[in-house]
Amino acid sequence: MNKKIIVALDLDNIKKAIKIVNELKNEVYAFKIGHEFFYNFGIKGYKEIYNICPKIFLDLKLHDIPNTVQKGLKAIFKLNPIFTTIHICGGDEMQKLSVLKNNKKTIILGVTVLTSLDEKQTLKYYKEKNVNILVKKFANYAKKNNLSGLVCSPLEINIIRKEVGTKMILVVPGIRPNKKFPSKKDDQKRTLTPKEAIDLGADFLVIGRPIVESINPLETIKKINKSIQ
Ligand code: C5P
Repeated sequence: MNKKIIVALDLDNIKKAIKIVNELKNEVYAFKIGHEFFYNFGIKGYKEIYNICPKIFLDLKLHDIPNTVQKGLKAIFKLNPIFTTIHICGGDEMQKLSVLKNNKKTIILGVTVLTSLDEKQTLKYYKEKNVNILVKKFANYAKKNNLSGLVCSPLEINIIRKEVGTKMILVVPGIRPNKKFPSKKDDQKRTLTPKEAIDLGADFLVIGRPIVESINPLETIKKINKSIQ
């Protein structure tokens, strides 16, 4: 089986996280540790997960001046994650410095535009209503600055592939396996199903709440894996 799912461990309960990792580790490509887990449990918690499954996407979405990001990444590389993230809107210098001293074991992904932003918000904050135009620009900047991959919405896979080709790794959140998600309350605005995203050319899918909040996460992941084979 070609494993393509990265499960986002967005949890403030380490016991639950460890249980999920033990249960799902043979079914998934990796686990994603983001703000909630990392700021609750820190490097100690990271290592507990790493010791069960060493394939970790450490998603801290760095966004600061180039020197600060470069030094932050230097510390992140010591943890050996397979992926980590920076915001492309941090600028050219920040992206260039980020890849400069990379140990090559960690792939740095550029975050294009958060999948929670709709047209109103991108117009307000980026002066551009058309998300596709923004994402295209950001993807190009990331390629020029030598990033190896991108995080993007499933609805933008097509235009990004046309823009940057097939070599860049596309890691795609904003995935909703069924109609229970999105609900009106869901903060993800631009979503597709796992199969739709894979068919469009995503390399890996990031899925959080639909798996970790489901009654039976193992059954849920098995269903998703089946749907994309
Ligand atoms: O629970 P859900 O499936 O919405 O989780 C999606 C994960 O992907 C979250 O951990 C979120 O931080 C992350 N993400 C995102 N949009 C981006 C980049 C990352 O939703 N553009």
